[in-house]
Amino acid sequence: MADATNVLHVSPVIPVVTIEDPQHAVPVARALADGGIRIIELTLRTDSALTSLKLIANEVPDILLGAGTILTPGQADAAVAAGAQFLVSPGVTPALLDHMLTLDVPVLPGVATVGEVMAVAERGLDAMKFFPAGPAGGPSYLAAIGAPVPNVQFCPTGGISLATAPDYLKLPNVSCVGGSWLTPRGAVEAEDWSQIAALAREAAGLGG
Ligand code: 3PG
Repeated sequence: MADATNVLHVSPVIPVVTIEDPQHAVPVARALADGGIRIIELTLRTDSALTSLKLIANEVPDILLGAGTILTPGQADAAVAAGAQFLVSPGVTPALLDHMLTLDVPVLPGVATVGEVMAVAERGLDAMKFFPAGPAGGPSYLAAIGAPVPNVQFCPTGGISLATAPDYLKLPNVSCVGGSWLTPRGAVEAEDWSQIAALAREAAGLGG
């Protein structure tokens, strides 16, 4: 296992990408990279997600490629076999965390409460996904967690936009945010890669 702290410092925004048609996988990844975003969390929410992971891993090597929506140990194994370089889960169970920590890739477990943060930190991790960030309490909630638990860094995800990302990024315990707004479904289906590159460019600009 590896802590995911480095993963949190690649980009101010980790795009959360869901691809239905694997033919879109490589152009989406290239459009994000063209816009200056060199990291992806590709969700395992479609039947073809593992195919898309493999394609991006093989054809866009300058992207740090993660697999998201990991719910089971089997999905974690399949994602790593397909080329995932880090794993993201929306939440954790003891069994899933045990298994992910045996794998040789950084792991970003999802947490939403102080108790979950403490349970994951007990396992030696200090980088976590805060999900679903908006509904779970937003920036003020994360700021409050930072008082008793200052050593954990978060990637809040869920309900974040270009407009609200700065409210999170200014917090000392936030290294980056995640969001699906860089790859709108309509733009992917219309194969509007220039729109995705433009959205990536705006997001990359959040880093200053
Ligand atoms: C995730 O899986 O992290 C979320 O679905 C992304 O949330 P968003 O669509 O609100 O950005």
